[in-house]
Amino acid sequence: MTILIKNGTLITATETFQANILIEGEHIRAILAPQSEIPHSTDVETVDATGKFITPGGIDPHCHFDLPMFGTVSSDDHYTGHKAAAFGGTTTVMDFVVHQPQGFHYSVERWHEKAAKAAIDYSFHMNLTHFDDQVAAEIPTLREMGITTLKVFTAYNGRLRLDDGSIFRALQIAKEHGMLVMAHCENGDVIETLVAQALQEGHHTPEWHAYTRPAWGAVESTLRLAAMSKETGAPVYIVHMNAGGEADMLTYARQQGAPVMGETCPPYLFFTIEHLQRPDGAKWICSPPMRTATDNARLWKALANNEIQTIGTDHCPFFFDGTTPILYEGQTVAIPGKELGKDDFTKIPNGLPGVQDRLPILWTYGVRAGKISANQFVALTATNPAKIFGLYPRKGALLPGADADLVIWDPDKKVKYGVAYSHHRTDYNLYEGWELTGYPEKVFLRGKLIVDGDQWLGQRGGGQFLKRSQGEIL
Ligand code: URP
Ligand code: ZN
Ligand code: ZN
Repeated sequence: MTILIKNGTLITATETFQANILIEGEHIRAILAPQSEIPHSTDVETVDATGKFITPGGIDPHCHFDLPMFGTVSSDDHYTGHKAAAFGGTTTVMDFVVHQPQGFHYSVERWHEKAAKAAIDYSFHMNLTHFDDQVAAEIPTLREMGITTLKVFTAYNGRLRLDDGSIFRALQIAKEHGMLVMAHCENGDVIETLVAQALQEGHHTPEWHAYTRPAWGAVESTLRLAAMSKETGAPVYIVHMNAGGEADMLTYARQQGAPVMGETCPPYLFFTIEHLQRPDGAKWICSPPMRTATDNARLWKALANNEIQTIGTDHCPFFFDGTTPILYEGQTVAIPGKELGKDDFTKIPNGLPGVQDRLPILWTYGVRAGKISANQFVALTATNPAKIFGLYPRKGALLPGADADLVIWDPDKKVKYGVAYSHHRTDYNLYEGWELTGYPEKVFLRGKLIVDGDQWLGQRGGGQFLKRSQGEIL
């Protein structure tokens, strides 16, 4: 099948220009000047994109589908989360394999089973949550499985955290084998101490989640990882940057030549600790927590100045009230969620919905609001993740030979956003009532139209696992 998308305005990470896009099978065959000869064939389907914008399909480098936590599970799986992603213009997602005691091969196999229902393209990062000589010896085998990234945690003591010595060794191994270490940066010891004190003093409400996870812990931990990156020469990617001080540390370290990069997520640009103080504050509980308006502003500045390289979502939704079912594809669904911690903030599952929200929210409140350019938007949400995570130029590019993953945007479409509009399998949306101008109208995955307006044309099992190669340091 050949598809010609005519007269669109293409937006890439570096340029904005008028062109026609010729798609053959799963790939972009050519980007043609608007007046160029168009191949005559009976088998060409033409899509008129006059007045529309076209971007590469979004790449979300940070999601958690079907993730067990606190006796429940994140409420989007590899089908429902992928479908929501597609409606928001994202065609590739990466999520994190839980590290099981049986080893990486076993852990990855289990994740492939969960992801068999994938509806868009996807790849995996490997959580590294215990470490010994055997684990160290196993790390290079991940590359054969198409996984070139490891996530380490400096928080969640006794559960996910590694000590600094183990993290340092992991960095040495990653450097040797061309892998990238992703780091969750908070100070686990400070958190444990403050949580114990808060509970002792009888504090149980959601905002105590934020009071007990201070920003300075994230800041010093970011510098700690950056220092290890500089010392070992291993690239490090700081996930979900939330505090302005982390941006300062990242920039300082990069100026010293450390191969360190960073990601932030939309909630850290828009929300603050005051949201956790609301009666429904549990809706905003994730780790690291929301910070202050000053932090929001510093993160925006870091994006505008190209100090931070990507925007992911850390999509990890839970129901606000998991005792009341919602309707999803004609079936009722209820999954235990935030209500598990109604009497104790430490029992509220950590995580937020966002995989569908990311691009449309950033378009209106980032690009249209003048905080980042349209080209930066594409770089941060598609091209840079593709480069850093070893998928470029197959993904994240409007180039001949690339996968035909693209989004046709209606730049004038007005949407009152919220839970009724979003396809996340949960009962709330953080951006309830926000007015949007501009929304994805058609979404193509490898040349196949999977979203057409409000119609879902994608399918369970239609997504492909992407084996990744070594990425770039940006
Ligand atoms: O609260 C969050 N972010 N949950 C997901 C796990 C993580 O640390 O990214
Ligand atoms: Zn994390
Ligand atoms: Zn995460």
